[in-house]
Amino acid sequence: MTSLNLLLWITSGIMFQLAVFLGIEYWRHWIRYRNFPSDKTEVGEILSSHKENISVAAWTGFRTFRVDRRIIEDAAQSTCSFYLVPVDEKVLPVFQPGQFLTFSLNLPASDDGSEQLMRCYSLSDAPCADYYRVTIKRVPAPLGSNYSPGRSSNYFHDHVSIGSLLQVRAPAGHFCIDNSDDPVILICGGIGITPMLSMLNVCLTQRPEHEVWLFYGVRNSSELIMGSHLNSLDSEHSNFHLWVCASRPHPEDVIGRDHKHRGRIDIQLLRALLPLKSYHYYICGPAPMLESIVPALEEWGVPDTQIHYEAFGPSSIKRTASAVKGKIQERETDKEIVVTFSQSEKQFKWKHSDLNLLEFAEANGIIVNSGCRAGGCGTCQTKLLSGELSYRHPPDYDPDVGTCLLCVSIPKTSVTLEL
Ligand SMILES: Cc1cc2nc3c(=O)[nH]c(=O)nc-3n(C[C@H](O)[C@H](O)[C@H](O)COP(=O)(O)OP(=O)(O)OC[C@H]3O[C@@H](n4cnc5c(N)ncnc54)[C@H](O)[C@@H]3O)c2cc1C
Ligand code: FES
Repeated sequence: MTSLNLLLWITSGIMFQLAVFLGIEYWRHWIRYRNFPSDKTEVGEILSSHKENISVAAWTGFRTFRVDRRIIEDAAQSTCSFYLVPVDEKVLPVFQPGQFLTFSLNLPASDDGSEQLMRCYSLSDAPCADYYRVTIKRVPAPLGSNYSPGRSSNYFHDHVSIGSLLQVRAPAGHFCIDNSDDPVILICGGIGITPMLSMLNVCLTQRPEHEVWLFYGVRNSSELIMGSHLNSLDSEHSNFHLWVCASRPHPEDVIGRDHKHRGRIDIQLLRALLPLKSYHYYICGPAPMLESIVPALEEWGVPDTQIHYEAFGPSSIKRTASAVKGKIQERETDKEIVVTFSQSEKQFKWKHSDLNLLEFAEANGIIVNSGCRAGGCGTCQTKLLSGELSYRHPPDYDPDVGTCLLCVSIPKTSVTLEL
């Protein structure tokens, strides 16, 4: 055997061993990603100590808060943070990153009276002893419409100033970061950044070694909220990966400085960038974003239990067959169910594709007041006159006896609602 042949044999042997090693590693990652539950370890004081208390309200009813500071957070000046301190000066309970506050507002009405409005705003910072922070975007009227602009958001921007008093319900909501060691992917669009800021600030301070990715969709640099804060986190933490994606950048926006990717956040981008790992995905943004990304993640093979999302308004996410399998089995045995709206004198057949009674009522032209649409604020509380309901998940708000929260209810039998 010549020395050239020997060299070839040795090189081939090394290449073969390397290929076997890489193949085994890939296989291990894939199996863990698809099938195995992730290791759970207790990490971080806030995340672990409040896991059990997620459904227990920190106070009942409304508590008065004073606005201590206001800070404009974007170049377009359409987003403002409000720092809130309790007037009673008592301890400020810790919350789960991702939870929201519910505000009861008394807005001046056009007839010189006042209009009561309930609105939810996510807590946008990590829990701290001194304040709660919410960050609110002005909602304009839809383009070309005669509707008036968003009532609550514009009221906050135009009338809520330092010293203003606000009636606030305790932190609530189930869209909270999991307290596992798993790496985390945060995906948000526009003002959907607010719960992510809370999650991000907690993750990076309490678990500095933890791998976190933030995919943040904006139209252009003017809409970027807390851009300098995000950029400093990006430069301070090697395990934090910030991807600002601009769908309609200004001509003067520069890739690499104002954003990292041109276009929307989509599954192709995630697949191209993310290593094969068992990530937990947290998604908050406009309904079209959720409706495209959530099913695409499921199709990609991300287990249902690792996809968590919240919409700030109505959204109907089409889950894949595996995600709804349990529910379909449950429904096949269902009898015909009729929902009666007594005050409206209307009756409709419940369709199993309907997500909850709030959406069902709205789809049938029944007007219902709603706030969080997640069982947290009590705005959709309605008297149940007959029949039986079940809750999709235990609500944070404790409804009065004989009433139900439509936004998290589905009928078990035919029901009559006082609506
Ligand atoms: C859990 C949760 C957390 C949230 N967190 C945040 C947050 O952190 N930051 C934030 O900014 N927002 C957040 N939101 C959204 C927030 O609660 C409000 O929905 C938002 O501020 C708009 O309320 P508004 O009263 O200003 O608008 P609304 O008065 O409710 O109006 C909304 C839109 O409808 C239009 N409109 C008015 N009348 C009609 C009509 N007849 N037909 C059709 N359209 C009409 C208005 O012009 C406006 O464009 C959150 C929502 C939820 C559920
Ligand atoms: S809308 Fe908030 S509890 Fe139903």
